[in-house]
Amino acid sequence: MFDFKVDETRCIQCGECEADCPVRIIDLAEGLPRISATRQPLCIGCLHCLAVCPTAALSILGKDPDSSAAIMPPSPDALENLMKSRRSVRRYRPEAVDRAVLDRLMDIVAHAPTGKNQRRVRFTLVDDPEVMERIRVLTMEGIRKAVDEDSLPEGMGYFAKFLTAYEQGRDIIFRGAPHMFIASAPGDSTSPEADPFIALTWFELMANSLGLGAVWCGYARWALQDVVPEMGRRLGIPDDHRSMYVIMFGYPEVRYARTVQRDVQDLHRVGMACLEDAR
Ligand SMILES: Cc1cc2nc3c(=O)[nH]c(=O)nc-3n(C[C@H](O)[C@H](O)[C@H](O)COP(=O)(O)O)c2cc1C
Repeated sequence: MFDFKVDETRCIQCGECEADCPVRIIDLAEGLPRISATRQPLCIGCLHCLAVCPTAALSILGKDPDSSAAIMPPSPDALENLMKSRRSVRRYRPEAVDRAVLDRLMDIVAHAPTGKNQRRVRFTLVDDPEVMERIRVLTMEGIRKAVDEDSLPEGMGYFAKFLTAYEQGRDIIFRGAPHMFIASAPGDSTSPEADPFIALTWFELMANSLGLGAVWCGYARWALQDVVPEMGRRLGIPDDHRSMYVIMFGYPEVRYARTVQRDVQDLHRVGMACLEDAR
């Protein structure tokens, strides 16, 4: 339900909602915002109008401004430290992450931006370590079959070595993690290349701030999508979601004591001289 409502006792007629609407469908009738019925279908549901209103006078799509959290930006130092201290965790404790923590993470990834606010990213969460263990076993069985039948995809012969390692007790593909989180998007969405990766980046940072460990996992992605594609299907990832990536996570078995130093490897500053050369 579109349900665009303005509380006239609160509205101070500042025009911020009209100015900030990215699709410019709000107009002011004697100072009060409104959206005509013909323009309502153009709304992308971004809720900028609700967020920008200084007096919480405006609701839309059934959302209540009084239920919104106040904005409290973390200090730049705290955010920088989080970004510099997160590491790829490859050693996990076996127990499940608390349900409340998982729910909180799912709520947060729903706030990640998407092209045109389409929010067509599918989030696939393995929240039960027993299910994760079964996925591990079935994936390894699929790899074993591909090795036996000599049908590993071209360029992925190294999965045979991962199988040997697994048989010796080392899980190189899923890193022994008790949980898996996948974001994927359909090819016909506005930004399939970017949307899942933004959500996963948010997930990783927030997971770290909640005391969890995580690792981006290309091996798991290739295993589930290319080497044993029936596993990807069994996990519910549609075939047209080619843009997908995997993060393994859980309570870490390792604690890093400090950040490290890193140099920017490739920074190209564009100055006027570059533009002159291009003529
Ligand atoms: C897109 C992507 C895919 C990755 N795939 C794997 C993987 O399959 N297995 C793994 O152990 N680490 C994987 N990593 C982790 C990288 O090796 C790691 O980010 C890099 O070595 C830097 O270390 P740090 O994340 O601890 O800073 C991946 C990272 C990214 C960004």
